[in-house]
Amino acid sequence: MLWFTEFSAFFSAALAVILLSPSLQSFSPAAAIRSSHLDAYFRPSPSDHSPRNFSYRESPILLNADQCRFEFSDTDSGVCNPSYVHVAITLDFLYLRGSIAAVNSILQHSSCPESIFFHFLVSETSLESVIRTTFPKLNLKIYYFAPERVQSLIAPSVRQALEQPLNYARNYLAELLEPCVNRVIYLDSDIVVIDDIVKLWETGLGPSTIGAPEYCHANFTDYFNGAFWFDERYNETFKGRKPCYFNTGVMVIDLKKWRRFGYTKTIEKWMEIQKVERIYELGSLPAYLLVFAGHLAPISHRWNQHGLGGDKVKGSCRDMHDGPVSLLHWSGSGKPWSRLDSKLPCPLDSLWEPYDLYIHSH
Ligand SMILES: *[C@@H]1O[C@H](CO)[C@@H](O)[C@H](O)[C@H]1NC(C)=O
Ligand SMILES: *[C@@H]1O[C@H](CO)[C@@H](O)[C@H](O)[C@H]1NC(C)=O
Ligand SMILES: *[C@@H]1O[C@H](CO)[C@@H](O)[C@H](O)[C@H]1NC(C)=O
Repeated sequence: MLWFTEFSAFFSAALAVILLSPSLQSFSPAAAIRSSHLDAYFRPSPSDHSPRNFSYRESPILLNADQCRFEFSDTDSGVCNPSYVHVAITLDFLYLRGSIAAVNSILQHSSCPESIFFHFLVSETSLESVIRTTFPKLNLKIYYFAPERVQSLIAPSVRQALEQPLNYARNYLAELLEPCVNRVIYLDSDIVVIDDIVKLWETGLGPSTIGAPEYCHANFTDYFNGAFWFDERYNETFKGRKPCYFNTGVMVIDLKKWRRFGYTKTIEKWMEIQKVERIYELGSLPAYLLVFAGHLAPISHRWNQHGLGGDKVKGSCRDMHDGPVSLLHWSGSGKPWSRLDSKLPCPLDSLWEPYDLYIHSH
């Protein structure tokens, strides 16, 4: 497990540098939350991000450690094998480089990389060959997510062009994935995992359908507007709950419960209301708050150190929150690959860079 040890050592050193660096000012969690909720809104336009000519290095092939005891049985072959850890990620032209780095990071830090099954949600079928050539040995399945599935449900927003249908694909995991898949980890494309993902996988959800880190100090009122809080049809939605903000970029989802309670329909109903009434300003996130806030299984904050993207407009760099880190999330409008390319990276972008498999073609 030399590679694993090396990576751990690298990250311990890197984190020590970061944590000790006086130049990195801590930013308030509220600022991070604001920044991450901007993420749904201020996606970079396609022109911000160059080529459609993809070139990626092949990811090194990693094998399971002895202790994995992954059973390849004839009866449970393929995706239904109960030993798999299931991970779902979207692939689109805009964030492809991020998705590939995310997958790479998961494999690098897993002691049982062959036991992970990736579910890729795409709206462009041409991306399948990119992912298959970059990760030739990966257990994976590609799902085509038709944009028309949500197009009619997406409310026109201030920045309409930035409302990517694929942002909403996470709402449909329960019906897209095979019925034998009962649990999935959903991850955004602007993350890297620096710990063994099996630890996140094994998190208990208790009676909850979704597990995610919660942020109870955030002013929850701000996520909805007057059309929600002053309308008696809606303003008792959270009655009897203690709703807290959570970020939908990292979620452990019990698909069995999701299917049983029909949450896809519930979310679609809120989207229909939003389309007409405009009860919130953001994209795909508030519907999750409406359905799940206060009913969440809280997961350690180490699994979503979010807000690292900062604000592209101000070009601000963000620091991490206090505490241990297992997953870094560049939510916010700045993305590490764009900043590295522009030679104006933020200090923490150096933690993303080792997972980048993109080959520059100039
Ligand atoms: C939360 O925000 C609302 C409006 O934005 C404000 O009226 C309320 O006082 C705030 N609550 C807290 C606890 O800060
Ligand atoms: C809900 O909205 C109605 C109508 O504006 C208002 O009278 C009522 O006080 C609101 N309820 C809550 C809990 O805010
Ligand atoms: C893509 O990049 C490669 C490597 O630089 C180049 O040889 C090729 O012509 C490019 N293809 C397109 C379609 O631009």
